[in-house]
Amino acid sequence: MKQTIFLPVLAVAALIASPIVADDDHENHEIIEKVMKEGLKGDESPLAKVLEGEASKSEIKDLDELIKTMEGTKAPVGDQAGYDEKVAELIAAIGAVAGGATDTPALNRLDTASDCKACHGDHKPKKEKK
Ligand code: HEC
Repeated sequence: MKQTIFLPVLAVAALIASPIVADDDHENHEIIEKVMKEGLKGDESPLAKVLEGEASKSEIKDLDELIKTMEGTKAPVGDQAGYDEKVAELIAAIGAVAGGATDTPALNRLDTASDCKACHGDHKPKKEKK
C-alpha cells in the first residue's frame, strides 16, 4: 500500500525537478555569455580598454563587477577544477587592477588571465548551442 503512494510522488518530484536543472544550465550560459559579450569581446571592449590603460576608474569597476559574476559558474565543457582556477585568476587579476594596480605587471597578469583561446580551448562548447 505504501508503494502505490510513494511511486507517484517520486514521478511528480522528477517532473518538477527536471525543468529546474535546465534553468540552471540556461542561467549559467546567460551569465557567461553576458560577461563575454559585454566585457571581453572585441577591440573596443571594456577589457581591451583596461588593457590599453584607457579605461576610467568607473569603467574598470564595472568590468570588475561584471567579471565577478562568473564566480561559481559551471564549465560548459571540460574539467571543472581547471575552469574554476582560470575564473578565479581572472577575477583576482581584474580585482587587483580595480584595486588600483594599473602598472604593467598587473595589466600583463590580466592579459594572461583573460586569454580567450586558453579558456575556450578547454571550456567553450565546440558547437554553438542555442
Ligand atoms: C576563464 C574562461 C574564459 C576566458 C578567459 C574567455 N572566455 Fe569567452 N567563453 C568562455 C566560456 C566557458 C564560453 C561558453 C559559454 C557557454 O556556451 O555557456 C565562452 C563563450 C564566449 C563567446 C560566445 C558567447 C555566446 O554564447 O554568444 C564569446 C563571444 C567569447 N567567449 C569571447 C571571449 C573573448 C573575446 C575572450 C578573450 C578576451 C574570452 N571570451 C575569454 C570562457 C572564457
